[in-house]
Order: sequence, then structure tokens, then C-alpha cells
Amino acid sequence: MAVTLSAASLVPIAGAVTPAHAAARVDNPFVGAGVYVNPDWSARAAAEPGGSAVANQPTSLWLDRIAAINGTTGKMGLRAHLNEAVRQAAGKPYVFQVVIYNLPGRDCAALASNGELGPTEIDRYKTEYVDPIAAIIADPAYANLRIVTTIELDSLPNLVTNAGGTATATPACDVMKANGNYVTGVGYALNKLGAIPNVYNYIDAGHHGWLGWDSNLGPSVNLLHQAATSSGSTVANVQGFVTNTANYSALKEPYFTIDDTVNGQPIRATSKWVDWNRSVDELGYAKAFREKAVEAGFDANVGMLIDTSRNGWGGPNRPTGPGAKTSADTYVDGGRIDRRFQLGNWCNQAGAGLGERPTAAPEPGIDAYVWVKPPGESDGASQYIPNDQGKGADQMCDPAYTGNVRNNFKMSGALGGAPLAGEWFSAQFRELLANAYPPVNGGGTPTDTVAPSVPTGLAGTTTATGASLSWTASTDNVGVTGYQVFRNGVQVGTSTTTSYTDSGLTASTAYSYTVKARDAAGNVSAASAALSLTTQAGGGGNPGTGGCTATYKVSSDWGSGFNADVTVTNTGTAAVNSWKVTWTWPGSQQITNLWNGSLTQSGASVSVANAGYNGSLAAGGSTAFGFGAGYSGGNTAPTLSCTATG
Ligand code: BGC
Repeated sequence: MAVTLSAASLVPIAGAVTPAHAAARVDNPFVGAGVYVNPDWSARAAAEPGGSAVANQPTSLWLDRIAAINGTTGKMGLRAHLNEAVRQAAGKPYVFQVVIYNLPGRDCAALASNGELGPTEIDRYKTEYVDPIAAIIADPAYANLRIVTTIELDSLPNLVTNAGGTATATPACDVMKANGNYVTGVGYALNKLGAIPNVYNYIDAGHHGWLGWDSNLGPSVNLLHQAATSSGSTVANVQGFVTNTANYSALKEPYFTIDDTVNGQPIRATSKWVDWNRSVDELGYAKAFREKAVEAGFDANVGMLIDTSRNGWGGPNRPTGPGAKTSADTYVDGGRIDRRFQLGNWCNQAGAGLGERPTAAPEPGIDAYVWVKPPGESDGASQYIPNDQGKGADQMCDPAYTGNVRNNFKMSGALGGAPLAGEWFSAQFRELLANAYPPVNGGGTPTDTVAPSVPTGLAGTTTATGASLSWTASTDNVGVTGYQVFRNGVQVGTSTTTSYTDSGLTASTAYSYTVKARDAAGNVSAASAALSLTTQAGGGGNPGTGGCTATYKVSSDWGSGFNADVTVTNTGTAAVNSWKVTWTWPGSQQITNLWNGSLTQSGASVSVANAGYNGSLAAGGSTAFGFGAGYSGGNTAPTLSCTATG
């Protein structure tokens, strides 16, 4: 893993102590780390029918107004969340995701998303919003968390498409373009937060159905670069970009590509849905955006995040194959999994489902799939609901609205009866759960596709009959529930701690051990590096070499022959089902008949296994077999070995 330490991380932060023990920034903060589960959201999700199946998923904390920093009624503040994150982390690498969302004149084209600060209130943004957040995050108590920010969704992209003389311009966006406060504010936030060594800044990059067109992509990347180098910031404060925040754009469109043709015509030119956009889904867009960003001067290591909280589009209406090739529209509309009326629709979309569960490093260049928008929280209301957050009524949230120039005069596609943006919308949560793709199954079990990190640091000691292993705990976003232990490639046991004692081994023998970690959802990690251990030599005249001992006793000896008894004792702590005693005659002895056991004799080597009726021995239990033998010369007693298996 490449480790990048930005130059900015060396700059001391005014009023904050740079903790000496802060971990160096890693290339991708999500790799090998757990991710914070917001207890406020988790409780709401768990209270919905079937919701506990996803309530353990990590979601972002939104600081959507100044009051959110200290906490609002019923909701924890930033410090309380960070303290809880430290507790959840329990010393492991841990990501804490926070959305910085309070620019002056916020989201100028969507009334439901407007904020508390007026277009000119840039000074309040700096001193009453960004500075206090930075001061809390810089507390050395949080130095070991990996703080991942989403910087200001929707505002900068509005300057590309909805301002400055375009057909889609709004007066409010024209004001913001002219006063430059989006650019100044984003630069300020990046600079202030980027100075904290354990912060990873990801700037919002819209989504493919907004900025994917060639004519929008280049200007967007350039605008983000301008913002990242304003207010004293440099590109070193940017670890990446996040797409599809709070949007519904499909991650992958499996049933058409931009290069497809219908009746000899490229669908790029002929499908109304595609409408010349080279990007047909978020994965393609995120990769294209990343490439352009690096070309524009951002760090070559920048990574992308994709918000997959609500872009699953599963359920009964999900197409299962391409549309008919009657026309470009039948082909694309019949096969697309994004069921919106139009790509510009953004408010509480009916028919949507939860998307990919949060996943680290799912694809090259993609740092993670994340749930930035907490599923079940409304995008906005169509009626004015009195509030002190600056949020207005938005027709795009009215199911009866027939659209405007920004969604090509299509129906809004919104669910009716929605509360204020950010408030819990139970009906929406239930629909998202029902239409999840991949589907959510098994109530109570977190659905999760991320395997735990591979166990490391495997070490061990041996006796003649056993091995004691220990290793370092693995990390996982939903928690590690146990480990599987393998001896010579075969699983021999499980452990819920980071140690395991193996038994039933043969003295002076080499064994190879590996360990895998398992999580609550049943994902299993790859095997650890193998550890080779050799058991100690068996000592004394009669060492048991595996959970049992064998005691040899001659009962009578008449010079040319003798009778002997062998007592087998299970010395382990668990019952065994079979045992075997072996030895090599030191002289000419040969067994002539044997009882209460099964004999194999070849030259001087003897092996006696249990009979069908005396293989089972409880821990500490004993049994015996006997034999008659002939000899000439001496009758020295042999050294016996005993092995038993459970
Ligand atoms: C709202 C915020 C809310 C966020 C997450 C936004 O649309 O404006 O208040 O915190 O969604 O649900």
C-alpha cells in the first residue's frame, strides 16, 4: 500500500496540537479498516420492519448546519459521535465519515436543499462552521481515526450546469457564480481540514447523469481544481472525489453499453435516455472523472468513492436482460435498471432500492462504495414545512409535478408525503429495503460483502503432542466473529479469540498452520501466511504422543515366551473415538496372539489399534489390551507411542 504524506499535514494547525502519534495517511483509508456505524441512524433503521438486516451498515454523519456540530434535539453532536467512533474502533483502524454541507447559498438549484447561510455569509461559514469542526476533529483523542470527509455536495456542480447564461440557469446560481463563495468556501474547508493529518478529503463530483457529458466533465474537473487551489489550499488537501452523493444513478448498467448500436445507429445519438452522454453509469463515470482529475493536476493517487445507498434498483421491475432492438429507446429503456423518468430527478425516487453494501476497494481507482446518504432520510418536501434550516418547498418532491427544463419536463418520480430533507421517511426506507439490489435477506444478519482483513502475526510454541498458536486480531466493518484454524491445509478448529491450542500431534513432526478470519455476515478472509512448527521430541520411556499414554506391563515370562498387558489412557481434555499404540521390538519378540485390539505386525514394528468396542475413551478414561509373544535371547521392554483422535 502506497503511503502518501501530504505536505500540508506537516503544517501546524492554529489552536490545535498535532498529535505526535498520528498515523501517516494511507493511500486508501478504507482498506483494512472498520467503518463507523452511526447509532442515531442505526436505531431508526432497526426500528423498521426487517431494518435490522442493514442497521449495522456504516453511514455518514451530516453536519448540515451550525447547530449540528454540538447536536440538535435527539441527535448527537460531532464530539459525541467521535467518542463513540473511538469506542467502536477499539484500537483498530477505523474510518469516520462526515459530510461538510453548509456553504453560503447552498445548493442554489434545489429549494429543498437550501441551507441556513445566505449567499454572502462566507465569514460565518468559516468561523462558525468550518473552524469549530476542525478544532474538534484535531483533538488528539481522535488522532487514530481516519476521518473521511465529503466536501459540499451539489453546490459547485450547479455552477457548471445551472449558472452563467445556460438554458438551465437559475437566478440563485447566477448569484453564487458571480460572488465566488462556493469556490472560496470549498477551498477554505479543504485547507482547514486537510491540515489535520488524519483527515481524508473527498470533494463531491456530482453524478454521471449530471456531469457525465463531455461538455460538463472537463469544466467540472477544472472548477474543482480551482476550488482546491483557492483560499490557500493546494491539491495535496484532496485525497479523492465522491460521486452520486444522495443520488440514484445506477452503479452499473448491465444490459447496454455506450458503444451499442440499434438499426445501425449508435445509441449514444439515438436513445433519449442516453442523449449523447458518454457515461451510462456511476462506475464508468467515476473512473472517467478520476482520469480527468489526474490530468488536471490532482494527485495521481486520488481515489473515488461512490454513494451506493439508494442506487440498487432491484425489486420486481428490475429488467433481467436487454430491451428489444426495435428502436434505440425500446432497447435502452427496456434494459436499463435505473427506472427514473429522467436522470435529472433527485427527490425521494419511487421504486429505488438500497444499492451495494459499503465495500472497500471494490474496483481499481475506487476507494470504496459508501452510504453517504443515510437511507430513509428524506431528500425534501413539496410543501413548505416551517423550519429554521433554510429549507424550502420543492416541486421536484411532488409526485404530480411535470418537470422543468432541468429534467427535460418529465414527471418528478418522487414518493408523496415526504417530510423535510433529512427527516425520517419511513415509507421510503421500507421501499428501499424491499427493492434492495443486491437483495437484503435474513433479518438480523448484516448483509455485507467485505471479507475481514487477513490475520497477521501468527506465532506459536509446541509440546511433543500439541501446538499453541496466537495471532493479531483482524479488522472488519461489521466485526470479526471468529477464526478458522488450518493444519496442513485442513481445518482443525475454530476460535473466538486470537489463540488456539492444537492437540493430537506426533512428536518431532513439522506442521504448517494458517488462520482465516470470519465476520458476522459469514465472509471469510484469505488465509494468513503459513507458520511452520515442529513438535518437540517425546521424552522418557513411554511418552504419550497424542492425547494418550500407553503403559506396558509383562504379566508372565517363561524364557521363550511371555504375556503382557498394555493400558491406554486418554490424557487429553476431550473424549476420543479411536487410539493406536505403536512400538518397535528391541529384540526378537513376535506377538502370536492379541486380544482387545487390532494387530498389525511387520518385522519388528507393531501397531495396535483399538477394537470396535473400546475406541471411545472419555477424558482421563482407560482401557487395556493384552497379548502373548515368543522370543529368544533378551526380552527388553519396548518404548510405546500412543495417538488418539476425537
Ligand atoms: C438534508 C440534510 C440531511 C441530509 C442527509 C439532506 O438532503 O438537507 O439535512 O442531513 O440530506 O439525510
